[in-house]
Amino acid sequence: MSDSTQQHPDRNLALELVRVTEAGALAASRLVGRGDKEAADQAAVDAMRHMLGSVHMDGLVVIGEGEKDEAPMLFNGEQIGDGSPPQVDIAVDPLEGTTLTAKGMPNALSVIALADRGSMFNPGPLVYMEKLAGASDIADLLDLDLGITEIVGRIADRRQIEIGDVTVVVLDRPRHGAGIAEIRKAGARVRLIADGDVAGALLAVTERSPVDLLWGIGGTPEGVISATAIKCIGGALVGRLWPRNDEERQAALDQGYDLTRQLTQDDLVTSDDCFFSATGVTDGDVLQGVRYQGGTATTESLVMRSRSGTVRRISAIHDRAKLRSLGGVRFG
Ligand code: FBP
Repeated sequence: MSDSTQQHPDRNLALELVRVTEAGALAASRLVGRGDKEAADQAAVDAMRHMLGSVHMDGLVVIGEGEKDEAPMLFNGEQIGDGSPPQVDIAVDPLEGTTLTAKGMPNALSVIALADRGSMFNPGPLVYMEKLAGASDIADLLDLDLGITEIVGRIADRRQIEIGDVTVVVLDRPRHGAGIAEIRKAGARVRLIADGDVAGALLAVTERSPVDLLWGIGGTPEGVISATAIKCIGGALVGRLWPRNDEERQAALDQGYDLTRQLTQDDLVTSDDCFFSATGVTDGDVLQGVRYQGGTATTESLVMRSRSGTVRRISAIHDRAKLRSLGGVRFG
């Protein structure tokens, strides 16, 4: 007998979104190693925007390429999709790791995250946030008011490992100099990344990965996107807005932002129904990048939904000639 209280499976938008990030990755991949990060980003934006038009949804870009004045496409506030239900918020990063792509370095991704309308945190004028991310067994240790020495020590205790076995992934930036020195002084290890803290967060929350923790100041948009992914894949993230100067601090306070609050993944995305898709552009820790062989291109994507908790890795083989003949945008 069927249980009438049981929910019927509904549409998993993530399965449509994978085409969008595949398109972004395929387009950007033509510019890997070409030294032109703007062109790579533009190619990903064009391809992603082209494909998004075909998705049945009433989407609002909450986190996009910036304000409309500078971003003609995927700007904050743009309506995306064919206007049919569901109503969703969208965070896009058509090319997460523009410099990585331009330099042919690892870990560039094409990413999109969706959640119920009104549920995504809007960072307003704040470009950066302090972040900590790790797997669920250390979720309660992620506290930005604790020093990093204290946190790595507690991780070692919790996991019953030597502190020398704790690895922290950190964006290689001068602003992290003191923190990096502290981590090393505590006896833990630092894995520096040139860019791409979404990939860093995904690696940190993955159990039995070579990284225990993501620490440092990175983009706020990337924080919201990582939070969506973490709601799907598991693990924890805390972030705190980090104004760059007094002007930004004042603007944030005037707009009612609380600069002391530690925001968890559930504050950054309040809905329990969210969707995430990322496709590798260059080879990385989390995903393989686009590979070309003769007339085909192969992509690898991570496709997830929080409600069901399903995590799919989708490998796709694309026929380059056929894709080109579909017109519109150069995908490969
Ligand atoms: P882009 O793809 O826009 O170049 O951003 C990459 C990135 O490294 C993010 O992953 C990270 O959150 C942010 O830039 C850090 O910002 P900054 O380079 O200004 O330190």
